[in-house]
Amino acid sequence: MEVKKIGVLTSGGDAPGMNAAVRAVVRSALEKGIEVVGIMRGYTGLLNHEVIPMDIGSVSDIIQRGGTILRTARCEEFRYQEGVAKGKDACEKIGINGLVVIGGDGSFRGAADLSAMGIPCVGVPGTIDNDISCTEYTIGYDTAMNTAMQMSDFLRDTAQSHERCMVIEVMGRHAGHIALNAGIACGATYIVVPEVEFDKEAMMKKIQKSYAAGKRQFLIFVAEGVGGVAELAKEIEETTGIESRSMVLGHVQRGGSPTVRDRVAGTQLGHYAVELLAKGIGNRVVGFQNGQLVNFDIQEALKMKKSLDMDLYRIANDVAF
Ligand code: F6P
Repeated sequence: MEVKKIGVLTSGGDAPGMNAAVRAVVRSALEKGIEVVGIMRGYTGLLNHEVIPMDIGSVSDIIQRGGTILRTARCEEFRYQEGVAKGKDACEKIGINGLVVIGGDGSFRGAADLSAMGIPCVGVPGTIDNDISCTEYTIGYDTAMNTAMQMSDFLRDTAQSHERCMVIEVMGRHAGHIALNAGIACGATYIVVPEVEFDKEAMMKKIQKSYAAGKRQFLIFVAEGVGGVAELAKEIEETTGIESRSMVLGHVQRGGSPTVRDRVAGTQLGHYAVELLAKGIGNRVVGFQNGQLVNFDIQEALKMKKSLDMDLYRIANDVAF
């Protein structure tokens, strides 16, 4: 079937660089003579037929902006077959025979279901967590890590002045990628991630050993998936006698102007998604393996497992003080 018109939406948690992907989808499609519409607010907007026409100028001046111009949502209704069937009808009414879904695993499940109902969908991985298994990189991850690093550098200044320990929670619902990398980049004394069982005693000993060796400011990184930073700060203070504070960095990590890496990755992935759809190929997720663009069947992609870089974790421990 000739692909004449496609849609693009962003879904789930926003991520810096999503706009670069939207821009690439729009421009690449138009370049191929394919009409494009933007669907507002993810699958929620699809079900409500919230559609905006996209021309070449509609995506000007957005590559540098955080967030997503298409807005985003987590759509409960789309988790169920009735919702997906309504989505299929909406696609037919809107007249699109292809859809680019920029988001995370949850969004790809919807894309697989919609593909199974005859609307070819291509998923573009966009989440700051970098927790999508079929790709080594997801849009937004680099910007989020850099934001976490910058914020933690600020916290280090005050920790240094007061000779305190700062316990910092960074995002990562099920994954410790941000914690591990930002932790290394900020000289963390200890990094707590969901992938590795937390040995609290070892952490306390590490802090005490560093203190005995003359260290006076400490940063402890904790991934959101482990959480409990307020209690941990209290326990550190009680056990070590070092005054401690905690901070949940939270949604600040989802904002901000995307880094070079996120703008380029968004552009590559968005462009590649359109190349597949233009050939009539759907039910795929695009991503990177060994730095190269790859694509996978969505169901296969959802079954894959991604692990934390344990070599990097070991290095972090070896250099921590
Ligand atoms: O998936 C990205 C993410 O930022 C997670 O790190 C976090 O747990 C979640 O989204 C927060 O979601 P919400 O913005 O809906 O609270």
